[in-house]
Amino acid sequence: MNHRMAGSSEAAPLSVSASSPAASIKKPHGAAPPKPLAGRARDALVFAAGVAAAVLVLLGSPSSVLVATGSGGIPLVSFPVPGPEDGPRTTFYDDPELSYDAVRGRRLTDWDAKRAAWLRSRGLATTGRSSPERVVMVSGSQPYPCHGDAGDHLLLRFLKNKLDYCRLHGIKLLYNRDFLHPSMTSLWAKIPIVRAAMLAHPDAEWIWWVDSDAVFTDMDFSLPLATRYAGRNFVAYGVTKDIKRKSWLAINAGVFLIRNCQWSLDLLDEWARMGPAYPEEHARWAKTVQSALADKGNYTWLDDQSALVYLLLFNWERLGEKAFIETEYYLMVFWGDMVGQLDGIAARYEAVERRAPAELGLRRRHAEREHLRYAAARNAAVGGKGGVPGPAGGGEDGWRRPLITHFTGCQPCSGGRNPAYSKESCDDGMRRALGFADDQVLRAYGFRHAAPLNDTVLPLPFDYPAARGRSN
Ligand SMILES: *[C@@H]1O[C@H](CO)[C@@H](O)[C@H](O)[C@H]1NC(C)=O
Ligand SMILES: *[C@@H]1O[C@H](CO)[C@@H](O)[C@H](O)[C@H]1NC(C)=O
Repeated sequence: MNHRMAGSSEAAPLSVSASSPAASIKKPHGAAPPKPLAGRARDALVFAAGVAAAVLVLLGSPSSVLVATGSGGIPLVSFPVPGPEDGPRTTFYDDPELSYDAVRGRRLTDWDAKRAAWLRSRGLATTGRSSPERVVMVSGSQPYPCHGDAGDHLLLRFLKNKLDYCRLHGIKLLYNRDFLHPSMTSLWAKIPIVRAAMLAHPDAEWIWWVDSDAVFTDMDFSLPLATRYAGRNFVAYGVTKDIKRKSWLAINAGVFLIRNCQWSLDLLDEWARMGPAYPEEHARWAKTVQSALADKGNYTWLDDQSALVYLLLFNWERLGEKAFIETEYYLMVFWGDMVGQLDGIAARYEAVERRAPAELGLRRRHAEREHLRYAAARNAAVGGKGGVPGPAGGGEDGWRRPLITHFTGCQPCSGGRNPAYSKESCDDGMRRALGFADDQVLRAYGFRHAAPLNDTVLPLPFDYPAARGRSN
């Protein structure tokens, strides 16, 4: 199936892309990722404004958290401000030569120390308390309106889907609509915005790039950042058989995690140097990559994904210690392999919940902010005996929900589909996946859709799905 994921290299107005600094590539120094920072516990307060007062009591009263009282007497938590013990105010931001530009500016060096100093200066770097690693998700689309049928409406739904996932998981979402470098448009636009996001969010441990045409289809799954990806700086989804044959489809560049550190900046530099912002090198790389990869057929144009695949697969000895190719679960799955299974997956999850003893609590109504607790309980039930086969996050075998379903080649914004796919299959597939995700979110609000492709919602009965499921 050579058209698996094909379309990634078509003109992809939905995918933002860009290139990176013109610096020479240093050998990665394997900078140890910053340790989980205890101060992040304080950051967590920012996500939990409503319970600020109570949580402050639990955590002690960090001087760097400003508690103000809103007009209605409701305590508000603002972002941390430095206290007297928090060190100098001058940070890397005060360096007039610091450049946000991925291509033209001075090369950024010593980032790990600069970032650590910033965290200390803001009282965010104290040690001793473990807390979740902070993530900023970055996505984006083109600066101008979509030409395709209902393209803007579809983009809105794709964005809503990311907002939902981020709200449920305490992730900040940055959505970009600008090409930060004039020649890094289309697929290459992601590199400059990811790099700029690192500088703008020194408090984020990870930047998570997600293409605009990717849909979160498991609202429960949390990334194994502190476990499986501990010590790694770059994570992307790969397909084993395509890695073996060195295909340009071996690793998907549409969804990746990158740690906020110097190693990552160096990787982005190296990747960007293969791109259109460096025309001579770009042309040379296009030939090199074309002859190295099994199935890359164009000498004149090099897409960001083929460049990444080449970079990783042909430099694995150098990069493999810190890079991680995820093949075990669906960090993303090609939509054509998945949309036909979504109804079956929903039915299997519903059956497990219907059978689950009431004391497991899966059928309890609950506040959305308790989502992750219920997600963990549901994960235990569907992952256990008599549950739903397959790995959490979805996989080739089994019936677990895939974390992300990626509509490569459907081009919802432009409508310029890969000719291998029909309009009906793309349109139905996207609506099915988006509705599948929406039902997981709507449940906390007491509703769900009447049927997979039906926009009417129905109220959920008490004790759903034990009382009455849609499908029984
Ligand atoms: C190669 O890519 C260029 C730039 O996108 C395009 O104009 C050209 O038609 C492509 N050639 C082939 C053989 O696909
Ligand atoms: C959608 O569901 C509602 C409620 O069950 C139903 O009345 C309506 O006919 C359905 N619409 C379509 C297009 O099937």
